[in-house]
Amino acid sequence: MRAVLSRCTFLALCCIALPAPAGEAPARQGFAPPSGLGIPADYRSRWPQLAPLSFSGMHWNQSVTVFSNAGQAPYRHNQDLWWEQEQNSGWSGDDSGGAFQNYAPGTVLVKEGFMRAKPGAMLHPTFLSIMVKREKGFDPEYGDWEYIQSSPQGKVLLRGALSAPGISTACGNCHTNVADRDYVFSTTGKGG
Ligand code: HEC
Repeated sequence: MRAVLSRCTFLALCCIALPAPAGEAPARQGFAPPSGLGIPADYRSRWPQLAPLSFSGMHWNQSVTVFSNAGQAPYRHNQDLWWEQEQNSGWSGDDSGGAFQNYAPGTVLVKEGFMRAKPGAMLHPTFLSIMVKREKGFDPEYGDWEYIQSSPQGKVLLRGALSAPGISTACGNCHTNVADRDYVFSTTGKGG
């Protein structure tokens, strides 16, 4: 009985902290962010959450959610604009008519990924996918973003600019498709 109660309390607390679609209970353990990127250990409570926990077929079939220190305004603006275009004309892959905004240097986007060991099991953290907007000149061809993937314990698994071969394969193949949105999809939690 006690175990049942504490489980209920846990789920209730999580639902307050992290709005999730019906049936999506966040994982028991969270993430330790990698050091040296300016991400505080308590980023989940200090940084705005830009998107609710949502299923992402594109990000390795994970459930994902996004936090950012300073990216909220352009993310929201671009999401609204993208969504408006999507509603009006369908997604053509061409953003050229839109006035998408770019992100300021120092902006960090932290995307948490969760998976289930089997259907119905609790979500567990897989990795953090991070984009850091560096100073002008860091990677001018690709918007000066640095891409990082880290384990739930904060171990950096890959890190670099999009023009580096490993990163271009691991991250760039997709993110270059949204160069007009400053390489940030900003679609999480919308429309699906
Ligand atoms: C198969 C395509 C694909 C690959 C490869 C990919 N991404 Fe993404 N990424 C997406 C899509 C689509 C979204 C937005 C929708 C979603 O939530 O999945 C996204 C969202 C993100 C976001 C949240 C901001 C945004 O763009 O909306 C970050 C941060 C991110 N990806 C980092 C990475 C990093 C780091 C890598 C490489 C390790 C990577 N991604 C590889 C497709 C991809």
